[in-house]
Amino acid sequence: MSNPVVILGIESSCDDTGAAILREGKIYANIVASQSVHKDYGGVVPELASRAHQQNIVPVVHEALKKAGVDKSELSAIAFTRGPGLLGSLLVGTSFAKSLALGLDIPLLEINHMHAHIIAHFIESEEENNAKPRFPFLCLTVSGGHTEIVLVEDHLKMKVIGRTNDDAAGEAFDKAAKTIGLDYPGGPLIDQLAHGGDPFAFKFPHPKAKGYDYSFSGLKTAFLYFIRDRMQEDSNFIKKNKADICASIQHTIVEVLLKKLIQASDDLGIKEIAISGGVAANSKLRKELLLLKKSKDWSVYIPKIEFCTDNAAMIAMTGYYKYLNGNFASQNTSASARYTYGD
Ligand code: KG4
Ligand code: ZN
Repeated sequence: MSNPVVILGIESSCDDTGAAILREGKIYANIVASQSVHKDYGGVVPELASRAHQQNIVPVVHEALKKAGVDKSELSAIAFTRGPGLLGSLLVGTSFAKSLALGLDIPLLEINHMHAHIIAHFIESEEENNAKPRFPFLCLTVSGGHTEIVLVEDHLKMKVIGRTNDDAAGEAFDKAAKTIGLDYPGGPLIDQLAHGGDPFAFKFPHPKAKGYDYSFSGLKTAFLYFIRDRMQEDSNFIKKNKADICASIQHTIVEVLLKKLIQASDDLGIKEIAISGGVAANSKLRKELLLLKKSKDWSVYIPKIEFCTDNAAMIAMTGYYKYLNGNFASQNTSASARYTYGD
């Protein structure tokens, strides 16, 4: 009998250091060390992020191996995030993966982070065996740095049919949160505070963008001016209306996201719909999708929250498909902040 395929996945594209172990297509450990050093700065500070990755990477990999009960000599390959992301952060994961693969004399698998967010839908573990999207499906990938609609034809074949022209949806959440004095990352805080708020209390403009593309920078500016003007009238405006403000901006962002997704689904006649990325953790987006499931007769796929936000399980899983397909990377590979896929 041949040896089982065992893959170590490494993620270090932004501010989470992740390591995961996959064995024969199933995830046995998924460890994430989140960085709290950025809280005081209202956003991720690239230099601090790379330093924290350097501190975290060895313990995180050790913990993943230990949890999965795997010795590094059993590894068949190492999958790592090559990009897109912060160059200094990517360099830590990339260099670590390259050195370990060289030391163990095993192949490398270079992974596109956005591709991996989509493959998060195919993660299987001992507890996890949900229905998987059927090809072709549309995936709305919404994270802190990207907002895309992707036509997914196969695990390794996909086409980005829409993308943001400026800010990402996660950035729109984070910047709105910052404007009203919330900590970074503000997306989850807006989500929490929006509970009990009136989503129709305040109206914000819908940005215009061609085709299935998005644009969020105009909304960010409109929100900033709206808050500035209201605060000039009443300095307690934010305090008095926090839940309504959060519910209204959240409602607008979700409405904008879904409008293009509906358009793409109608135009292409595809009713298999998935969402992924950090913003897929948003409770309003998840709720609205379940309503659309009924009204549009969609099959809707939403990953578990731990697989929406950055994690290494999705990197190991994508690595597994590349491994089976023989798509190995050479030792000459290097981190790429603007690494693209699905063109
Ligand atoms: O995918 P992700 O973990 O990292 C990137 O690749 O960027 O996404 C992070 C983004 C942040 O902008 C964060 O505010 C947002 O996802 N986010 C949320 C929620 N949870 C995370 N946005 C809205 N509602 C949430 N519940
Ligand atoms: Zn991400």
